Amino acid sequence: MQITEVKTIGILGAGRVGTAIARRAIAAGYAVKIATSKSPAEIALLLEIMVPGAVAATAQDAIAGSDIVILALPLSKYRQLQPELLAGKIVIDAMNYWAPTDGTLAEFETGTSSSEVIQKFLPQSRLVRSFNHMGYHEIDEEARPSGDPQRRALAIAGNDAEARRQVAGFIDRIGFDPVDAGLLIESRMFDTGTPVFGAPFTRADMLEALTLKQAS
Ligand SMILES: NC(=O)c1ccc[n+]([C@@H]2O[C@H](COP(=O)([O-])OP(=O)(O)OC[C@H]3O[C@@H](n4cnc5c(N)ncnc54)[C@H](OP(=O)(O)O)[C@@H]3O)[C@@H](O)[C@H]2O)c1
Repeated sequence: MQITEVKTIGILGAGRVGTAIARRAIAAGYAVKIATSKSPAEIALLLEIMVPGAVAATAQDAIAGSDIVILALPLSKYRQLQPELLAGKIVIDAMNYWAPTDGTLAEFETGTSSSEVIQKFLPQSRLVRSFNHMGYHEIDEEARPSGDPQRRALAIAGNDAEARRQVAGFIDRIGFDPVDAGLLIESRMFDTGTPVFGAPFTRADMLEALTLKQAS
């Protein structure tokens, strides 16, 4: 699937995952804007070194000027997000709940996936969970052209079918096989602690793990 309408990616978080996705996106020809809790001036040098070609931005600019926004900040900071800025946006949630680093947060201890909590916090955003189950170094190292038998899969789940389609196109273009698991509740199948989490799955492995019946 080739999606051409997505041109600019906004990333909130310039750590391990945010910069890895940014490098892949730039290599694939997307414009990339990145914001953290610091000012653009404070992260400009870091980005020049870590993600040449990316533009340091405020969160407002990174969100407003982007077709897809990626949440790559620590989950414990999610309440710093501004739901009104993200309203109507396609938002990829790459975050995971990990109590040893995030601290114990009651809302993530209920057995739902963390993305269901984030979707409630961002009710008007078209949230799609993905990237969360792959290590940042693999995002950098495991990208492959379409059709490569070793190409790794990234599961996606979200309640907006068009948002899932756009995110699938982005994932395909940066070097991975998107596997659409369906509604956001299905992201429980690739949350932390599941067999999918951290597993080096190809598309066929992922389809089997998620027991999807769709055509490959
Ligand atoms: N590491 C992995 O392999 C991996 C893989 C998949 C998913 N994840 C998940 O992805 C998330 C990020 O992980 P990471 O390893 O990339 O973390 P990290 O290396 O600690 O980076 C976090 C980034 O988020 C920024 N940040 C903090 N508050 C922010 C805010 N309010 N708005 C925008 N940016 C903010 C931080 O910068 P400032 O503090 O300067 O603002 C930093 O640049 C976590 O939820 C993690 O579970 C990680």
